[in-house]
Amino acid sequence: MLPALTMVVALAAMALTASTPTASTPTVSMPAADKIYVSSENIASEESMRNLYERWYALYRRDSEPSDKEKRFAIFKEEARVVYELNDDDTHVKYHLNLFADMTLAEYAKSFANCSPLKIRPHDNIKLKLHQPSQYYPDKLPLNVDWRTVDGVLTSVKTQGECGSCWAIAAAGAMESIHFITNHKRTNLSVQELVDCSFKGNGCEGGSAFQAFQYVINKHGIHSSEQYPYVGNGSHCTSPFGLPVMSIRRYYYVSERSEKMLMDAVHKAPVVITLWGVNTTEFEYYSGGIFRGPCNDKGTHQALLVGYGTVPYDDANRSGVKYWVVKNSWGESWGERGYMRIERGHRAGGGLCGIMLSPGLYPAHPE
Ligand SMILES: *[C@@H]1O[C@H](CO)[C@@H](O)[C@H](O)[C@H]1NC(C)=O
Ligand SMILES: *[C@@H]1O[C@H](CO)[C@@H](O)[C@H](O)[C@H]1NC(C)=O
Ligand SMILES: *[C@@H]1O[C@H](CO)[C@@H](O)[C@H](O)[C@H]1NC(C)=O
Ligand SMILES: *[C@@H]1O[C@H](CO)[C@@H](O)[C@H](O)[C@H]1NC(C)=O
Repeated sequence: MLPALTMVVALAAMALTASTPTASTPTVSMPAADKIYVSSENIASEESMRNLYERWYALYRRDSEPSDKEKRFAIFKEEARVVYELNDDDTHVKYHLNLFADMTLAEYAKSFANCSPLKIRPHDNIKLKLHQPSQYYPDKLPLNVDWRTVDGVLTSVKTQGECGSCWAIAAAGAMESIHFITNHKRTNLSVQELVDCSFKGNGCEGGSAFQAFQYVINKHGIHSSEQYPYVGNGSHCTSPFGLPVMSIRRYYYVSERSEKMLMDAVHKAPVVITLWGVNTTEFEYYSGGIFRGPCNDKGTHQALLVGYGTVPYDDANRSGVKYWVVKNSWGESWGERGYMRIERGHRAGGGLCGIMLSPGLYPAHPE
């Protein structure tokens, strides 16, 4: 391990273990004023619906006016009722009218919940190594790990738009973290380079982080998002000016179905995970709290696991609820400023939404 890595991890570990679960539980959520919730008055009449829509529209569609606004309003009315019902039925998780509120579930799923259908084949790839447990595994792991609390490790939350680039954003996020942890440099890496160049075919139709890591290894580097900006559709791979800003030499996978091993890995650095069955209105409109499902059997998504923890009490007054912290790529208005806390310690071996069903992946910086 590089000295710099040891130091930052040690600092992170100190900051994290020194505090109790209560004290270090982050309360990151969007200011209420920025989130549009739905009351029974909002959905009472056509006029109140119209007012709600205009309020939502000013926040989410002002810059990209749809040509079919009236059709979108009709969908919005349905979605507003869905979000109202969700909040009414569920006291421990909140839902709000986010960027998806003028789309049908199928439209949301097409671009946002169908992003990573590929399976990794570890044996095909010699640059891929199995994560080796640290000295903390299994019983000395801290109660809480949250890379959001270590300044610089995570870049801003990204917005994939109507492009199935979740896998590229998650992979870039993992490399950004390792770049900061080892070199102390904050850089947005080029998601578009991964979308355009890391494999044949349209990167906006889905992919997997392992292709992204493999590309960066083969090309000896990746450029910054300033050198190769995001356009949010699949284009031709172009060679940007300038040298790549960082590289990786290998990457690791974390054994599936082992909560402790995934905790051990994310204690070391953020890990790309795959979520299954995110084609549900609950996942779509998640706004805050510890997500408890449901997920179904449709729709795959990749995102960045950045921590785990336990709350003494959740919003439904259940004690000792365990969660993972996931950085998503649906903008800051989704979830808790773009992040989700999702229940951990789920009885099924693959975890809630299959979070441990596929091997977690993280890159290693060249030594
Ligand atoms: C998502 O679910 C909807 C409603 O059940 C369905 O129409 C759509 O085909 C699904 N899409 C995907 C990508 O799973
Ligand atoms: C990364 O991009 C975001 C916009 O998504 C920007 O606000 C931020 O300043 C950028 N960070 C760096 C280190 O360039
Ligand atoms: C991709 O996006 C860019 C920038 O918005 C645009 O110029 C280009 O025409 C788009 N390409 C396709 C195939 O949609
Ligand atoms: C939560 O549980 C505690 C202890 O069981 C109890 O004292 C408290 O009144 C409960 N609070 C709510 C809001 O139900």
